[in-house]
Amino acid sequence: MSQYQDFILRPAVIEDAARMWQFVIDSKALDPNSPYCYLVLCHHFANTCVVADFVDGTMAGFIAGYRPPEAHDTVVVWQIGSAARHRGRGLGLAMLGELLRREDCREVSYLEATVTPSNTASRAMFTALARELKADYIQSTGFEASLFPKESNHEPERLFRIGPF
Ligand SMILES: CC(C)(COP(=O)(O)OP(=O)(O)OC[C@H]1O[C@@H](n2cnc3c(N)ncnc32)[C@H](O)[C@@H]1OP(=O)(O)O)[C@@H](O)C(=O)NCCC(=O)NCCS
Repeated sequence: MSQYQDFILRPAVIEDAARMWQFVIDSKALDPNSPYCYLVLCHHFANTCVVADFVDGTMAGFIAGYRPPEAHDTVVVWQIGSAARHRGRGLGLAMLGELLRREDCREVSYLEATVTPSNTASRAMFTALARELKADYIQSTGFEASLFPKESNHEPERLFRIGPF
């Protein structure tokens, strides 16, 4: 747990799942997953998730992350969001910093995330993280648009891999 400006950054607890789901719906930017999916994240992956509580008790942001079973040196940031009113104040980077300082990320030297080509803010944030960590990063194919259901009109998800750090 850590403090950044008016935010407390901490691991997820099971009671966060419903709020995470609502946060994603309200964001209109993140892919909505089922409420059950957020229960799984907050239950089994709590220590690689970050919740940012604002002083007024509202959820200011969150990270849904996990360590892939076949890559012990890597943490994947599956979803990250800052509430619209808190963006541009360093909260995204602060949540990523909190995640990387965790005991669960002790062996981690790479961070991966996928970013859609149109998501300028997300790409800027991960580029800024690489700079902060003084680490290289590579971008590669990730998930082609053809892997998503046609009806979803989903953009491709380019893989952003930062490290080693
Ligand atoms: C991407 C997102 C999480 C960034 O959160 P944030 O709290 O505003 O990020 P920060 O304030 O820590 O900014 C980090 C860096 O990104 C840059 N940045 C953030 N938003 C930007 C934007 N819209 N355009 C250009 N650069 C931007 C900042 O300038 C900063 O870089 P710097 O340190 O070089 O100045 C936020 O915009 C968001 O929630 N977007 C909607 C959800 C989403 O797209 N999530 C990512 C996909 S999973």
